[in-house]
Amino acid sequence: MRTLVKNIKLLINTELVARTRVQGSEMSHLDNIANAFLIIADDTIEAFGSMSDPRLNVEHFDREIDASGRMVMPSFCDSHTHLVYAGSREIEYVDKIRGLSYEEIAQRGGGILNSALRVQQASEQELYDDAMLRIAQMTKLGTGAVEIKSGYGMTVEAEMKMLRVVRHIKETAPLVVRATLLGAHGIPLEYRGRQEAFVDLVVDRMIPQAADEGLADFIDVFCDRGFFTVAETERMLEAGAKHGMRAKIHANELACSGGIQCAVKWNALSCDHLEYTGADEIAALQGSATMPTILPGAAFFLNMPFAPARTMIDAGLGVAMASDCNPGSSPSVNMQLILSMACINYRLLPEEAINATTLNTAYAMGVSHMAGSIAVGKKANFFITKPVPTLEYLPYSYGENKVERAFLNGKEQ
Ligand code: NIG
Ligand code: FE
Repeated sequence: MRTLVKNIKLLINTELVARTRVQGSEMSHLDNIANAFLIIADDTIEAFGSMSDPRLNVEHFDREIDASGRMVMPSFCDSHTHLVYAGSREIEYVDKIRGLSYEEIAQRGGGILNSALRVQQASEQELYDDAMLRIAQMTKLGTGAVEIKSGYGMTVEAEMKMLRVVRHIKETAPLVVRATLLGAHGIPLEYRGRQEAFVDLVVDRMIPQAADEGLADFIDVFCDRGFFTVAETERMLEAGAKHGMRAKIHANELACSGGIQCAVKWNALSCDHLEYTGADEIAALQGSATMPTILPGAAFFLNMPFAPARTMIDAGLGVAMASDCNPGSSPSVNMQLILSMACINYRLLPEEAINATTLNTAYAMGVSHMAGSIAVGKKANFFITKPVPTLEYLPYSYGENKVERAFLNGKEQ
């Protein structure tokens, strides 16, 4: 089946030669084509170009879509989510409004442990059904690839249950899905005071079992003050690497914890959050393969300082931005909102924000060879916007869904 999308007002983020990521000053450049066409063959991008291309007059298509007045953009890639969870945590949200900090809530057994209890009690089917509602929501908002972490299990059984839910999503959802084992997301109450024994559990049981069942692409650790130390993180990343899982870690959300340097040392694909990032951390990231990934939703929701995205880009780094969708610190799957926050709160130009939420997040979840831009041979994951006046309007008009029609694998959703 061949589809022609024609009369596109602006075809955004095209690549003649597909790159894996963009860094520094490259981030402010997008190859956009005005008055463009896009040809899809089944689930793949076959060609694109200007409407003046004479080929269009002689070729035959099974379906034609007129996108007059509308833009076409590659689907967002959401490279950091905790999409599988049970229940919600709005009571803690009110506690936060009343003045309790994220760490204080965690210390008294709330936060991640609260979600863990609910996940342990939920069936695989319930978790899957809930997650698929969020998948449907994110699809409508223009997301075409998603990384999903475990981390609310806390026991071997519940962590494997979460990862099997992710596998089920991978098999049935139209998005590109990648799975991450986040066994070390919090310290279960019964392991308080003997945290090393919990790290043993992750290293000796969770990682090998997830690897045996082929359940995880990546390994993650919450490496931060009050959670896991750099030494503990290194043990887990080493074990993950032995089992073929590349690292993608939570780092420097609560303090300059050494997490960023640890991520670089272990050649992590990404290190995420980064509210506490100084000159040493930026120097460590320079020349590395690790994508700094900022989670604007969590900083907004927890009223945290904003990570220095502008300084990072000016220092030549690439930056990715993801939703961090989770019940505690960012209950939203809306990457359009992340696009707006990138510009408003982090002072990214609209072009930089688009690169940060498409190609660079694709890199941060290891899928930039198949997603993240409009390039021949990539998956036909894209959306047609509502009629919009300019590219800048996309981040400018926050809070409104600007996606009119979403396509994944060439199929309208
Ligand atoms: O990425 N920072 C650690 N983990 C999650 C929050 C998890 C939760 O509070 O449930 C995050 O923000
Ligand atoms: Fe997270």
